[in-house]
Amino acid sequence: MADTDQQVHPMPQSYNPQSKYDQESATTNEAKELRRQKQKKWALYIIAFIIFQTGIIVLFTFTVMKFRTPKFRVRPSSSFDTFDIQPATPSFNMKLNAQLGIRNTNFGPFKYSNTTITFYYKGIEVGSATIRKSKANFRSTKKVNVPVDLVMPTTIASNSDLASDLNSGILPLTSQSKLSGKVEIMFIFKKKRTANMNCTMEVNTSTKALQNIRCK
Ligand SMILES: *[C@@H]1O[C@H](CO)[C@@H](O)[C@H](O)[C@H]1NC(C)=O
Ligand SMILES: *[C@@H]1O[C@H](CO)[C@@H](O)[C@H](O)[C@H]1NC(C)=O
Ligand SMILES: *[C@@H]1O[C@H](CO)[C@@H](O)[C@H](O)[C@H]1NC(C)=O
Repeated sequence: MADTDQQVHPMPQSYNPQSKYDQESATTNEAKELRRQKQKKWALYIIAFIIFQTGIIVLFTFTVMKFRTPKFRVRPSSSFDTFDIQPATPSFNMKLNAQLGIRNTNFGPFKYSNTTITFYYKGIEVGSATIRKSKANFRSTKKVNVPVDLVMPTTIASNSDLASDLNSGILPLTSQSKLSGKVEIMFIFKKKRTANMNCTMEVNTSTKALQNIRCK
């Protein structure tokens, strides 16, 4: 019986390798699980990186790569050299040193061609000047000074509105221009842009200055 007992006894011993095998399979399972976790982590890193990269690209597209139309306007620092108004005739003859501003908010220069600026009094052209081709730098406002002779053509000088405007001390004017050029971003990306000027302003005849300049 003891023999058989002894014969039976090795059973757990023969069982031991089995449990060892189970342990081994458990460790390989653990290793697999670890590898899976690692792969999952890497996949998450890659996804996070792709999202980050996409975000950067989108941000870049909507900021740096965005082509904005520059703003073109008459600045209040414009002044007059000659200032001759005759409410009785009525007529005026002034030399305006117009200071124009070209505001470029792009991440690159705006190169524009020659153009003309025209001033009107109630739709009647009273003066014009040429603006020479140049460029407005990266995120800045270029100031251009152009002398303009503003003369009321005598043919329409009988205009009664003009007499009352000159008597009131306010001469309303409008200016129009169109600045065509190219915005250049990072030296290679170029797009045509046209800055339209459409301003209304008042000449204050007592201060001999421009006031209430409004541009669209
Ligand atoms: C631009 O204007 C200047 C002077 O007003 C002139 O010399 C030049 O030829 C013009 N350029 C173009 C491209 O029209
Ligand atoms: C300028 O603005 C006036 C007033 O809104 C408008 O009547 C006119 O058509 C505009 N001109 C241009 C060239 O945009
Ligand atoms: C002209 O300018 C002066 C000084 O800014 C101001 O006091 C006056 O009211 C202006 N005239 C008109 C008609 O707006």
